[in-house]
Amino acid sequence: MDHNAKEINKRRTFGIISHPDAGKTTLTEKLLLYGGAIQQAGAVKARKAERYATSDWMTVERERGISVTTSVMKFNYMGFEINLLDTPGHQDFSEDTYRVLTAVDSALMVIDNAKGVEPQTEKLMEVCRMRNTPIITFINKLDREGMAPLDILSDIEDKLQIECAPLSWPIGMGKRFKGVYSIYKNELHLFTPGQNITGAQGIVINDPYDSYLDDLLGSPANELREDIELIQGAADPFDLEHYLKGNQTPVFFGSAINNFGVKEMLDTFVQIAPCPGPRAAVSRNVSPYEEPFSGFVFKIQANMNPAHRDRMAFVRICSGRFTRGMKATHHRIGKNITFSNATIFMANDRENIEEAYPGDIIGIYNHGTIKIGDTFSDKEPLKFLGVPSFAPEIFKKVILKNPMKAKHLKKGLTHLAEEGVAQVFRPFQGKDYILGAVGMLQFDIMMERLRSEYGVDAAYESVHFNVARWVECHDIKKMEEFERKNSANMAWDSEGSRVYLTTSEWHLGYCVEKWPEIEFSKTREITDRLPS
Ligand code: G4P
Repeated sequence: MDHNAKEINKRRTFGIISHPDAGKTTLTEKLLLYGGAIQQAGAVKARKAERYATSDWMTVERERGISVTTSVMKFNYMGFEINLLDTPGHQDFSEDTYRVLTAVDSALMVIDNAKGVEPQTEKLMEVCRMRNTPIITFINKLDREGMAPLDILSDIEDKLQIECAPLSWPIGMGKRFKGVYSIYKNELHLFTPGQNITGAQGIVINDPYDSYLDDLLGSPANELREDIELIQGAADPFDLEHYLKGNQTPVFFGSAINNFGVKEMLDTFVQIAPCPGPRAAVSRNVSPYEEPFSGFVFKIQANMNPAHRDRMAFVRICSGRFTRGMKATHHRIGKNITFSNATIFMANDRENIEEAYPGDIIGIYNHGTIKIGDTFSDKEPLKFLGVPSFAPEIFKKVILKNPMKAKHLKKGLTHLAEEGVAQVFRPFQGKDYILGAVGMLQFDIMMERLRSEYGVDAAYESVHFNVARWVECHDIKKMEEFERKNSANMAWDSEGSRVYLTTSEWHLGYCVEKWPEIEFSKTREITDRLPS
């Protein structure tokens, strides 16, 4: 096997998804402890507190230089190079999360044992399903009372429409929580409350019928045996192919805060999770093993260094090998660029890199020429698919207070839209911009950054739109007629695509029925056209 292939095969690039408070941060921290990337518990948590616990969101955004190290965390575990991509927990930033998920090869889903599947988990799952992303499930907080294990499995199967294959099974829960039995390895790990260290995992028993188990557990030993027989008869057995296709999720039980069940999950994760695979581009599928370099931008982050107006583009490498100083073509603008300074993100630090491989995420400084969705490659004009824009759900009109600043406003809105802070629409009628977002916080951040970075004093005014769809039609005449008849509802997005805005889903339904030739879409590939 050549050097590149070896490097690719040991890479695991994944994201953790969960509803806020399920335990994503706590679990991330434990994974980093195992990977030796942090030395003490609390490091990630403290950073999360800096990011979220303050009511002053704007300062927090400006201080992204601190928090960005949590966006991508690279660590090594048992010879595997792991890239963990953080997804913002707050639902107002779900667009950002969706895009991050386009850069991973698999996901880890954390579910609170007491709450089961929550709304944000369902939304994130929809995104994973768009690319059939393989998902491992970790049911957290077994040290507290929660749903019965079989009930939580059926909750996942019903709400998320994915088959569950338990690879571990809890013995009791809450105060009666005794440990987990690994169905994958036929091992029993006993739980010691408060044990919060890596390495030691208590007593290990390889046979559930060993009478030693009765001595250790008492009556729960028989309950466990019955459970094992039941799930071996009733639950779906683990099937690697099903998992890799995104049709089945292996399920682990544990308690992140007590560091219980985490190592079993991580050990299995590195064995079964996929290494970087082929990626779909407009013209063809690109294999990671191809020699020419290629990668795409899935995230742009501003103010990494408050002293400069730099923005960092996060590039997921899809094929070939990245070397410092190499040249690649930035296809959307048709220019060659030299990667003289690329950054790789370690859990605690960032450093300049000499080389990187498919699956790795590199950061490139950018002065405003790079957009989310852009592709870089050696020569062939590739355009990777799968970085979507989602139709926003909340809309506001931007009213400029000082008309002399119209140019600044335009520039600010263009930049911030490119970063994905919110979406910007230019209505066919009138000259005010309309912003669209998924969460209210996006509006606050947009306004604050317009003020602090572009010197624009503006305000919001409400608009009566609540629904947006991108519209297209093969018949140009029909499209023109549609535009004419609906011009009060039409706008351009920042890419120059047509958008239909309306008041309600009901109205939209009416319009869809009335105009069968028009295609209405809820998502759109970002920059899905190569310049001709
Ligand atoms: P998130 O990133 O998904 O939002 O969740 P986070 O890890 O911050 O965890 C949310 C809360 O759940 C935290 O409590 C955390 O301590 C707790 N937690 C995480 N894992 C477990 C577990 O295995 N068992 C139990 N019982 N609790 C767990 P908090 O009170 O919100 O914060 P803190 O005061 O502990 O920092």
